[in-house]
Amino acid sequence: MSISPGTPPGRSESDRVLIFDTTLRDGEQSPGISLNKQEKLEIAQQLARLGVDVIEAGFPIASPGDFEGVQAIAQEVEGPVICGLARTSHQDIDAAWNAVKDSGRPRVHTFISTSDIHIEHQLQTTREDVIGQARAAVAHAKQYLDDVEFSPMDASRADVEFTAAVVQVAIDEGAVTINIPDTVGYAIPQEFAAFLARLYELVPDLHRVVLSVHCHDDLGLAVANSLAGIEAGCRQVECAINGIGERAGNASLEEIAMLLHTREPSLGLWTGIETTEIARTSRLVSRLTGYQVQPNKAIVGRNAFAHEAGIHQDGVLKERTTYEIMDATTVGLNSNSLVLGKHSGRHALSKALEEMGFEIDGQALNTAFKRFKEIADRKKHVTAMDLEALVTDELRSEDIGGFALDWFEVEASSLRPPHAKVSVTLPEGGSRTGSFTGDGPIDAVFQAINVATGIAAKLSDFTIGAVTEGQDALGEVSVVLEVQGVTGAGQGVSTDIIDAAARAYVRALSVAVARSRADQAIGLPEVSPG
Ligand code: KIV
Ligand code: ZN
Repeated sequence: MSISPGTPPGRSESDRVLIFDTTLRDGEQSPGISLNKQEKLEIAQQLARLGVDVIEAGFPIASPGDFEGVQAIAQEVEGPVICGLARTSHQDIDAAWNAVKDSGRPRVHTFISTSDIHIEHQLQTTREDVIGQARAAVAHAKQYLDDVEFSPMDASRADVEFTAAVVQVAIDEGAVTINIPDTVGYAIPQEFAAFLARLYELVPDLHRVVLSVHCHDDLGLAVANSLAGIEAGCRQVECAINGIGERAGNASLEEIAMLLHTREPSLGLWTGIETTEIARTSRLVSRLTGYQVQPNKAIVGRNAFAHEAGIHQDGVLKERTTYEIMDATTVGLNSNSLVLGKHSGRHALSKALEEMGFEIDGQALNTAFKRFKEIADRKKHVTAMDLEALVTDELRSEDIGGFALDWFEVEASSLRPPHAKVSVTLPEGGSRTGSFTGDGPIDAVFQAINVATGIAAKLSDFTIGAVTEGQDALGEVSVVLEVQGVTGAGQGVSTDIIDAAARAYVRALSVAVARSRADQAIGLPEVSPG
């Protein structure tokens, strides 16, 4: 089945592996992540530039925010198929359809578990009922649209014969993609491949639809299991940028894409991914979610192309391929040499941002320009990486609709405990100040923010990094905190590390408060997808 126009010369459509991105659905279910509509749109636009085939934009029934995010993406993002997730109820499917229907290429993805452990303990129903629900769900979705995907959740722990019966019913009702999830990351590659091979035997109709895999990384095998699936005949892989997702996450999109790209000569398979957009997509997702990428992460980790041992450095200097199987520029690293300085004007900034793919005008451009000038005053050269961090940082503060940092002052000395005073704008309007004498200057600022907001947030994670190399590099801080059991993540960027930390803390606090209010207002969905 062809999904995007055009097969490049020398390649055949049957060897194309479709990339189904679930960063904004499964990825967004990671603890502490809460993206606002603007952030989801920004990520979706970048995923379109990256060339993914399908964007699973969210789970529309889960909350009004989820619905609006999926709808905005369906209305504004062109290119990929835009998909909404639904359980089997009519209510879920109607919400998913209503959220995606404005897309030129809508899809509804419905799922129900086929493992006995889920049927008995979670759904508390029978196999017969599961078959009935799957049939009714696909039939109901098909009234609205042709592109319906069905997943038997927890399939890798389910009875293959029963899963086959459910899959057959879904195909009979018109599902055009059947996705086999390893929901809890339990599978091992040979076993998973054998499961898929048996499904093909039991359901020959699977050859008429797209078979897909969705693997979680609980045992670190998500990419290996996805590859086993591809070799067994799957032509869609569900994955997420930076491998984010429930628990240990999903198969990492960049690893799947570069695996198929690098090993195309032996595997003979290809994707529509524009690999030079990978690094930038990874940075955007990391910044907006507050989930930092581990330094040694394949493809997008800071050290993925770094050589420490002398013998390796020697080899690479003589011939890159001695110790590198990929060229860093292929994934979009080191490719942008754009530099602005303190004399650059608004026009130069707007042009540079446009070249980098940011559509920014009006008030947002004014704010970006103000922050650019502040940074350019302290930093000789402002690079593409700096601009990207700044603009994403500004995006983060729009629309969270919570607290905002007005100013702070800190007295730090080795002779007495540090003291901080802060002023915070409140969501309901007006500002309040707070002060605190803490263990260190950053601790004092965080506690002073708690005093000003009246919220006893507890810090659970704090990381500092630099956007670029060099002494005058922009600092980037990531904070995860907890407010009454609800987590929130936030990031901040500044030339001053305390400023970056305070911004990150206020954002994380706003996210946690917004999440806890939303949970109380709507109640969480009864069953969360994996
Ligand atoms: O992990 C899982 O099973 C899921 C399904 C909804 C596809 O996320
Ligand atoms: Zn999942």
